[in-house]
Amino acid sequence: MDNPFHGGVRFRQTLKMPPNAMDSNFNADPENNISNLKDINQSPQVRLENNGSYYLKIFQSSLNLLAHLLIGVTVGASVLFSYRNGSLSLTGIHIVLCVIGYQLLMAEAILCLCPNSGWADGLRLVDKRRVHWILQILGSVLGIFGSIIKSLDKSVNWNTLHGQYGLVAMVFTSVSLVNGLTSLYAYEFRKYLPGNISKITHICFGTIAFAASGISLCYGFEKHNFIEWATPNVTYTLIGFTACFTFIIIINPSITFFNKTLRVFK
Ligand code: HEM
Repeated sequence: MDNPFHGGVRFRQTLKMPPNAMDSNFNADPENNISNLKDINQSPQVRLENNGSYYLKIFQSSLNLLAHLLIGVTVGASVLFSYRNGSLSLTGIHIVLCVIGYQLLMAEAILCLCPNSGWADGLRLVDKRRVHWILQILGSVLGIFGSIIKSLDKSVNWNTLHGQYGLVAMVFTSVSLVNGLTSLYAYEFRKYLPGNISKITHICFGTIAFAASGISLCYGFEKHNFIEWATPNVTYTLIGFTACFTFIIIINPSITFFNKTLRVFK
């Protein structure tokens, strides 16, 4: 089968992408399961089951589905809390912007680059990268703006663990945004910054930013008003959900980070 998604060189030529653009684990048919089928009735899953990656696929899909569900519940509960009086207070605006920015958009921006991520699976690599940077920019702007408006509202800043982790998330998100640009144009910037370094630092800063925002959210849930509204049991369940989906989401970038770093030192 003449599939343009196989073979890095042809793929790059078809999409007019720089050589570094194939540096991703996305492939429409990674094990050639579809294109190597001899018989039209043969199931691609037979081959997958044989080499064990079928189970890995199911495992990754299940984890990603779980992450999506937990994100929905956590973001939904935060938005409901913010609107509990019928309209948004300044803290309410802060919460809505931060959770939609960090826990929804930034989380989906990271997930869309993961294998078996669900909704983004059918996208071509070039479109996955577009979706990634669009969601990343939107999420970062909302998260940073949401944090800044609450900081401006306070007379003493960074005096709580919640605010301090929020600050870490803000700083790393800003650096990761700039760094994402050099990663996107790694090929063009290669004279000034080696492509791999740019990508490794982007993954590292982005992962730290996302993890810090998750920790900040957990401390946010511990605020008196929230516990009173949601009850302690629901609050600690939401903290558990946040820890769980944050961990699932950072698995793939962490593996990519270690693989890329190992390749640089080899
Ligand atoms: C990803 C989510 C969140 C991030 C990144 C975040 C970040 C921040 C930041 C940067 C500040 C300002 C700290 C300062 O200037 O000292 C702050 C303050 C505050 N946030 Fe959040 N926040 C998030 C979610 C929440 C949630 C869910 C709640 C409540 C349920 C909340 C309630 C507050 C309150 C009451 C303050 C003022 C007191 C303090 O600084 O601790 N935030 N937040």
